[in-house]
Amino acid sequence: MARTDHRTPNVAGLRPRSKLVHGGIRRSGFDETSEALFQTSGYVYGSAEEAEHAFANDGSRHVYSRFRNPTTAMFEDRLAEYEGAEWAYATTTGMAAVHAALWCNLRHGDRIVAPRSLFISCYWVIKELSARFGVEAVFVDGTDLAQWETALSKPTQAVFLETPSNPGLEVVDLRAVSALAHKAGAKVVVDNAFATPVLQRPFEMGADVVVYSATKHIDGQGRCLGGVILTNDKKYGAEVIHPYLRHTGPTISPFNAWILLKGLETLELRVAAQSASALKVAEFLEGHAKVERVLYPGLVSHPQHDLVRSQMTGGGTMLSIFLKGGKAEAFRALNDLGMVMISNNLGDAKSLITHPDTTTHSKLTPEEKVAANITPNLLRLSVGLEDAQDIIEDLDRALAAI
Ligand SMILES: Cc1ncc(COP(=O)(O)O)c(C=O)c1O
Repeated sequence: MARTDHRTPNVAGLRPRSKLVHGGIRRSGFDETSEALFQTSGYVYGSAEEAEHAFANDGSRHVYSRFRNPTTAMFEDRLAEYEGAEWAYATTTGMAAVHAALWCNLRHGDRIVAPRSLFISCYWVIKELSARFGVEAVFVDGTDLAQWETALSKPTQAVFLETPSNPGLEVVDLRAVSALAHKAGAKVVVDNAFATPVLQRPFEMGADVVVYSATKHIDGQGRCLGGVILTNDKKYGAEVIHPYLRHTGPTISPFNAWILLKGLETLELRVAAQSASALKVAEFLEGHAKVERVLYPGLVSHPQHDLVRSQMTGGGTMLSIFLKGGKAEAFRALNDLGMVMISNNLGDAKSLITHPDTTTHSKLTPEEKVAANITPNLLRLSVGLEDAQDIIEDLDRALAAI
């Protein structure tokens, strides 16, 4: 990194973790160490000619924070550098990112294919909006390549998937599904919220667009909502995604972008530590007398462990715990926890646990719950940054109370 570049450091030659600390920086004339927060909606011009020039040369300077803001741009560029993407756009929430990444490119008569095991709002955005706007939505078992092959045997415009999925922890074969999708003419949109950019790199396996709920691990400290859309397809970014976002306006606030920008500095360290603890917790729960089954991508017992190893570099921070019993046992365990907090958020420094059947996925029909593996005895655990032994002891106490 050349010293002369201190206002706009060139991080191209740095290793990924260093990019999370120095990427995207544009220092102001004050030469601040920490990234500046430009909490402004608009920008002023020195003359009418300057304003005219700014609008004629789209993107040459800041004109309005719905389009671009210097703090937001630092966050977008830092994540793009880390992810290996040409283009990134930050949004108010993860759902704003999912919605825009799909609907920027769908028209009446189009087709979209997705797995049944999805976060409920992702499922809603596909199922409900497709029905409303005349798009055919086809849902498959995301773990079954034959079903993908059949569904993608017709021309299709979009494939959307989460891998691992929330909360089923189903893993989709990114390479195989991307190849099938491209043959059908579809853009592949991958929600990488559970795996994080630290543990999985969807662009290297064929994804066209990657989306995040930055609310989760990117902030990782429960402070704000946010989302990001990334793509390596510059033309698709510039001509399809960018105008859709610019005119529909799901733009993140500069303050939230600043929080997420600072969150990126510690992302790799946090995810590595949380993932290592999650493996210890999963190993402890596997075979526990009160536990029917633990699903964790990092365990050899995960039904798709070989696929996990071929596309992720760690098991992640999320566990699905199926208790022996049903709702009563699940509630009893939740109510006896001390340090682990009952919360439907995830990816946080604090360990958080929820009962998807009665919270995040409660609006699914009984049939949809069966298809997504949401059962009354399921608890979804997000492993935080505490000492793994404290998490294990808390869970052990709560399980003993059942
Ligand atoms: C996989 C996945 N995608 C998208 C979202 C939505 O993110 P947000 O709450 O930031 O809108 C979530 C939230 O839990 C999620 O788990």
